[in-house]
Amino acid sequence: MTKPALKGGRVLNIDDSDFHRLKSYMQNNFGLNLEKKRILIEGRLSNTVTLAGFDNFTDYLDDVFSDKSGVKIDSLISRLTTNYTYFMREEAHYRFMTQTALPEWVKKIKDRDLRTWSAGCSSGEEPYTIAMMLDEFFGLSKKGWDTTILATDISPKVLAAAKEGIYPRDHLERLPPGWKDRYFMAADHGRWKIKPFLAKEVIFSQFNLMGSFHMFRRKFHIIFCRNVMIYFKDKTKAELAAKFYEVLEPGGYLFIGLSETLSGVNSNFVQMSPSIYKKQ
Ligand SMILES: C[S@@+](CC[C@H](N)C(=O)[O-])C[C@H]1O[C@@H](n2cnc3c(N)ncnc32)[C@H](O)[C@@H]1O
Repeated sequence: MTKPALKGGRVLNIDDSDFHRLKSYMQNNFGLNLEKKRILIEGRLSNTVTLAGFDNFTDYLDDVFSDKSGVKIDSLISRLTTNYTYFMREEAHYRFMTQTALPEWVKKIKDRDLRTWSAGCSSGEEPYTIAMMLDEFFGLSKKGWDTTILATDISPKVLAAAKEGIYPRDHLERLPPGWKDRYFMAADHGRWKIKPFLAKEVIFSQFNLMGSFHMFRRKFHIIFCRNVMIYFKDKTKAELAAKFYEVLEPGGYLFIGLSETLSGVNSNFVQMSPSIYKKQ
């Protein structure tokens, strides 16, 4: 395979030992499996290494791994995570949510506190789509409900974009007719910004899915963790599935990516469809 061209810089080679320690670090701390990503690492990080004032990966990694502030690790994470996402991605899940999960929960939840988590939310398209779906589902009766969505990601870069909530016009094309005007307002450079009434429905926070889930005081009714575990090894997936199970209410749903599966992963979930799981 040819090396990717770098704008204004050369691609640096990562030697076996640095590749191994970077791979192990990302695997152990963030679950990311970079086994087959050597070329991607060299392509995505060479500029970063040079801009940090180094001409080799050894010195750069020494510097990053000894940084106690967490700032350099954050920048490394932002370079190495894959953040591809879009509004209405995997629409079948939203249909299931509005036709099956929400009607069930509306009957069962007495205190009108619906708790939804978008885990691995990237630049916000997923949690904002959920917020629009909830708005459409509840309509006028939404007033009495707290439907705030928790949206978390490991990458500070995508979280900053998500909080800003500004998207190019063509990113809105998959939304049903009328939704652009209902949920967005015109911003600069022909872009569109999420309206404040919808933005306040989503709370963004940096959170590493490899960490402990003990801080969640109340359990969730619905969790989306789509196209995140795809980069994880089976053991990591199994541990994460067990943690999701623990923080879901009985009857709660876990949505994973359409191309993902928990089969082969030992979990207590009941499978409703290939990518939708329920805690009984
Ligand atoms: C491909 S995006 C998926 C976005 C959205 N869920 C979707 O399906 O369109 C995967 C996201 O998972 C995040 N991620 C990867 N490892 C993570 C971890 N250990 N903890 C939290 N987020 C993680 C990445 O930063 C990235 O934004």
